[in-house]
Amino acid sequence: DALHFSVLTLFPELLRPFTQEALLGRAAANGLLKFDLHDLREHAGNRWRKVDDTPYGGGAGMVIRVDVVERALAALPSTPDEVILLTPAGQRFDQRLAEELAGRQHIALLCGRYEGFDARVEGLVTREVSIGDYVMMGGEAAAACIMEAVGRLRPGVIGDEESWRADSYSSGLLDYPEYTRPAEWQGHGVPQVLMGGNHAAITRWRRDRALERTLARRPDLLPGAGLTPEDSSALLT
Ligand code: ADE
Repeated sequence: DALHFSVLTLFPELLRPFTQEALLGRAAANGLLKFDLHDLREHAGNRWRKVDDTPYGGGAGMVIRVDVVERALAALPSTPDEVILLTPAGQRFDQRLAEELAGRQHIALLCGRYEGFDARVEGLVTREVSIGDYVMMGGEAAAACIMEAVGRLRPGVIGDEESWRADSYSSGLLDYPEYTRPAEWQGHGVPQVLMGGNHAAITRWRRDRALERTLARRPDLLPGAGLTPEDSSALLT
């Protein structure tokens, strides 16, 4: 059955291309994923389509009303089994969470803007998620990240051609480097081992380059990468 994403936002057109183009768009056309985009202003409940108000206690900025969010969620075509508020104050998004979410049937993504939502939206969501330690102007780009990372884990969304690339991250290491034609470019060649037919040697070379790259760029990933004794000795040389 299709994994269904509902996005609730003040700017639904920001997300439209992600639901129509490239692999996510193809997966939607093929019925593997389903997307719907909802404008929170449709649920304002007033003729000015005003969804926010000034904060109790004073201060700058505006706060999105909890009753608007409640009505927008109630109007979804089905009841989501996950409702995620995108906020820099949320749980950090990672591959483990992407894999967990890929097991859901219907995920609602609630995108903030301005100062944020009334704190009582906590009672309407199943979790709050941040895509990283930086502050964006709204949650829409974060919603796109989650649709990209979760959508590609559903069977059939990416073909074999693309999916072998996933092996490297699910191995817990960064990808090894890839090369294609031309064999010589501006004085830079291609590693000899890749030009020969020794598949065992190529496999070991790729594993070693992935280990080397991970050690140089993301040493924090190594303890969780399940290294073999052979990997460990390769890292030391
Ligand atoms: N909204 C603004 N910044 C964000 C972030 N880093 N993650 C999720 N939602 C956000």
